[in-house]
Amino acid sequence: MGRSQDAWTLRARAFWQARQERAADGALTGYLLDESPPSIGRHRFEGEWGQALAWLRQRGVGRGACLDVGCGTGAWLRALAPEFEKVEGWDYAPAMIKASRRTLQRAGVRHARLRVGQVTQRHGRAVFDFIFVGGVLMYTPEPALAPLLKSLARLLKPGGLLLLRESTVRGETWLREGLALRPGVLGAGPGLDYVAVYRSRQALGTALEGAGLTLEKSRPNRHYKLSDLSEDWLRRFDALSGGRVSRDPALAERVAAWIFKARFLLCYPEYFVRQTLGLAPWKIQNHWFLVRR
Ligand SMILES: C[S@@+](CC[C@H](N)C(=O)[O-])C[C@H]1O[C@@H](n2cnc3c(N)ncnc32)[C@H](O)[C@@H]1O
Repeated sequence: MGRSQDAWTLRARAFWQARQERAADGALTGYLLDESPPSIGRHRFEGEWGQALAWLRQRGVGRGACLDVGCGTGAWLRALAPEFEKVEGWDYAPAMIKASRRTLQRAGVRHARLRVGQVTQRHGRAVFDFIFVGGVLMYTPEPALAPLLKSLARLLKPGGLLLLRESTVRGETWLREGLALRPGVLGAGPGLDYVAVYRSRQALGTALEGAGLTLEKSRPNRHYKLSDLSEDWLRRFDALSGGRVSRDPALAERVAAWIFKARFLLCYPEYFVRQTLGLAPWKIQNHWFLVRR
């Protein structure tokens, strides 16, 4: 990998390390990049987990070993643990592995192995029945993409399932640089240097096939967009209240809970028009990719 790509990866890793170091204990950092209001991240997670579990059951995935690449704070590992004999999580940010360890300890999970590093360093062949990769390829620069996917192909058992959850762009690949990211949905804290690469659904499909993997299907991640739409409503209510919502985390949480209850009225109509009917589609989306070896 070239030096500029190495530097790019280091910037992405520094972002996640700093993000977790500043996060509140138990926050779903890396999920929505926010701690407030937490219910938006929680609802998104619950929706996504329900979807992933349904696929695990429908596809008859073996329940031996499971790998979570870019495991972040361990929310997915905690949910996956009861489903498998062994679970393993890798993350290149030490603060994230520390958070994962805490999450699993609190949940009483004893059959987990955690490692700081890149999964390309993981030895072995046909080790895992199930591999989950959530929001990781978007921090993987182009020269590092094929080696990462080839490692996943090597580690996945024949007949195993690789589930990707990845942000996507309509059209050309978009390299996001120089746009700081502020903590919190309503956050006005200091921005952190942030880099990401958004690829189209087609580009990701081609990269997967190039690594010898078979893309079984891809589909939009509804829960991601619904959390985005909830955030939009929260900002509207904040503006209407003259900034009261953003000044008061407890109020923000109550408003977020109310938005969730009213989601069929507030969020679903826009989702239906833009996603299902395809009118004024979003530039940035999020998709699931179900992949086989
Ligand atoms: C968007 S967060 C997603 C966290 C978790 N997968 C989830 O869905 O909640 C991305 C995480 O992946 C980690 N990460 C990104 N690229 C990585 C790589 N190449 N190797 C290991 N970890 C990586 C980051 O440190 C961060 O914790």
